[in-house]
Amino acid sequence: MIYNYCGLHYKDRLTSLKEKISKRLLELGLTSEGYCMYIQTTPMEWEVLVELLTINETYFYREENQLNECCHTILPLLKTKIRNRPLRIWSAACSTGEEPYTLAMLIQETGKFLPGTVEIVGTDINQKVIRKAEKGWYHQSSFAFRRIPDHLLNKYFTIENGGYQIKPSIQRMVRFQHLNLLNENKCAQIGEVDVIFCRNVLIYFDQKTIKRVIQNLHRSLAPGGYLFLGHAESITDMDLGFQKVDAAKTFYYRKETEQNETVSHIGG
Ligand SMILES: C[S@@+](CC[C@H](N)C(=O)[O-])C[C@H]1O[C@@H](n2cnc3c(N)ncnc32)[C@H](O)[C@@H]1O
Repeated sequence: MIYNYCGLHYKDRLTSLKEKISKRLLELGLTSEGYCMYIQTTPMEWEVLVELLTINETYFYREENQLNECCHTILPLLKTKIRNRPLRIWSAACSTGEEPYTLAMLIQETGKFLPGTVEIVGTDINQKVIRKAEKGWYHQSSFAFRRIPDHLLNKYFTIENGGYQIKPSIQRMVRFQHLNLLNENKCAQIGEVDVIFCRNVLIYFDQKTIKRVIQNLHRSLAPGGYLFLGHAESITDMDLGFQKVDAAKTFYYRKETEQNETVSHIGG
């Protein structure tokens, strides 16, 4: 049931699953079998279970080469081609928001994009992390700040209640939404986007689920749009309609167009 719902699988790790849910079973006074029945009649319980199962580790400025490639190479290039609407970025599986907020800060830092010309949507299956992302407040000793350069921290946050609050100019660039990447209809509702970041989530899925998720992302990407995955994630050997682009310090994927254009103009 868990695999079908969100793609996480515990085939060889039932002990780990038991550890994660045992406290909840005690709270409810249910056996595993009882819990299976309970969740089928109580769909809201999925929210609780997803909170227990997902690993939400993330931080600002994660894998900076990818972020810089997007903000300094890809977005300026797209800006020359798309003039009649804002550029749209989807941070899929954004956890507590550090990834989309970093993109927003770096976009502002380029000085090339007026307010309203880039829209970022951050989504995650875990409602609790989405609520935290919306607040944009992070405890000062949090893991979130392990890599962020001081000048970005000083410029884009204010100190509040023992933590850092992201400034409204950055918050306005990002919208958050609850979304399960396995849900084809919900993914389609995101609308057409130019760049997708889907990092450090495919590692939790098997090949079948990776394929399903990538197909959902593929449908949302504009022709010639760009996809960033985590460094430990690859779709190079899967025939899913993407071309790998090797940049100087990182790699990413470009959605193949009907003409199958080359990507040499951006160093691929
Ligand atoms: C390790 S975090 C990655 C956060 C961020 N992308 C990064 O690279 O720093 C993985 C996130 O994937 C989310 N996730 C897991 N399964 C998902 C699914 N089926 N749909 C959407 N998000 C999912 C988790 O809730 C978690 O927040």
